[in-house]
Amino acid sequence: MSTRTLRIAMSGVTGRMGYRQHLVRSILPIREAGGVVAPDGSRVQVEPVLVGRSEDKLRELAARHGVEEWTTDVDGVVNDPSVDVYFDAQVTSRRAAALTAAMKAGKHVFTEKPTAETLDEAVDLARLAMTTGVTVGVVHDKLYLPGLVKLRRLVDEGFFGRILSLRGEFGYWVFEGDGQPAQRPSWNYRAEDGGGITVDMFCHWNYVLEGILGRVETVTARTATHIPARWDEQGREYAATADDAAYGIFDVEGGVVAQINSSWAVRVFRDELVEFQVDGTHGSAVAGLNRCVAQHRSHTPMPVWNPDLPVTEPFRDQWLEVPANAELDNGFKRQWEEFLLDVAAGRPHRYDLASAARGVQLAELGLRSSAEGRRLEVPEIVL
Ligand SMILES: NC(=O)c1ccc[n+]([C@@H]2O[C@H](COP(=O)([O-])OP(=O)(O)OC[C@H]3O[C@@H](n4cnc5c(N)ncnc54)[C@H](O)[C@@H]3O)[C@@H](O)[C@H]2O)c1
Repeated sequence: MSTRTLRIAMSGVTGRMGYRQHLVRSILPIREAGGVVAPDGSRVQVEPVLVGRSEDKLRELAARHGVEEWTTDVDGVVNDPSVDVYFDAQVTSRRAAALTAAMKAGKHVFTEKPTAETLDEAVDLARLAMTTGVTVGVVHDKLYLPGLVKLRRLVDEGFFGRILSLRGEFGYWVFEGDGQPAQRPSWNYRAEDGGGITVDMFCHWNYVLEGILGRVETVTARTATHIPARWDEQGREYAATADDAAYGIFDVEGGVVAQINSSWAVRVFRDELVEFQVDGTHGSAVAGLNRCVAQHRSHTPMPVWNPDLPVTEPFRDQWLEVPANAELDNGFKRQWEEFLLDVAAGRPHRYDLASAARGVQLAELGLRSSAEGRRLEVPEIVL
């Protein structure tokens, strides 16, 4: 059977996501396995070309992982006819220009989210993709997480009856950086550098809600900057100008009310860093990154409110584990594999720039809702 090798220019690989999730957890293991196998038995192999600004960092990374090619010449690599795919995990503020150049050069594109800082830019990118005809994939990693795959299966099987609500809790304490070092990059906390938790997370919540429940129709948000000063990678104090928490309520089609808290200023008393509870007339489920537990109507206990008595119900023990029933590998890798097969087959990828634009739209409307103190409709985007 034939093997086709796709050369992938990978930009932003010195960063947290580009390095860990995309290079080390996705592309290198795919290369190591000899590529992705298509249903007809043919293979799609990958060959990364590392792209960035620092020769030293790229040389060191390439040597550490046995990657032969790297370059600081972004224009050169984007216009190199032997390169098939451009991948972008740079800081958000660099993304729209980089994706535009790559698509204009005829490259297939796989990119981190958000695709742009503004809705107008995100829509322009989606329109450009339609005219160039390249295959475009935008990271929708949460939908590939084992916990959410199981949750989606429960929806598909009609487990919930009529779905009433979803509540999500995302977050953890991000250290300020004065004592212990911060575990996220400092640009995340500066609005002028594309930071902010609303911009970062609402694009995820849009595709999670669409992927599990349906279209998001309205948004009501309250954002906050709980920690006003932080310390950067050089130990210098800076003003945190971006929001570090966003409390959102979303009307989802079919009358479902979704409420998701996102915060980098919360301490975890949960089983996972993100958890979603879906309640329906016939059952409920709680999904995290990995686990999903469910409780059917017939197994639902009858708690009776009485503050004078200690709790006797072991509530957490009353839920049943939802099995994976399949090998659910790293979510980023699984989306990469699907995208690579789409490129090889010359077909669109299901999570594209139009979906990404709706994510940017939700973030933009979330910030506006908070600033104006009101609920906003989410208009349909026409490309
Ligand atoms: N899918 C997810 O779950 C997820 C999680 C975190 C971040 N992200 C997204 O991934 C992207 C990168 O985030 P990160 O946390 O890895 O950030 P990071 O700061 O660790 O990495 C940013 C990368 O961009 C490069 N860079 C920085 N400034 C640049 C400039 N002016 N010009 C060119 N390159 C520049 C850096 O060298 C680095 O390679 C962001 O857009 C972020 O929204 C996605």
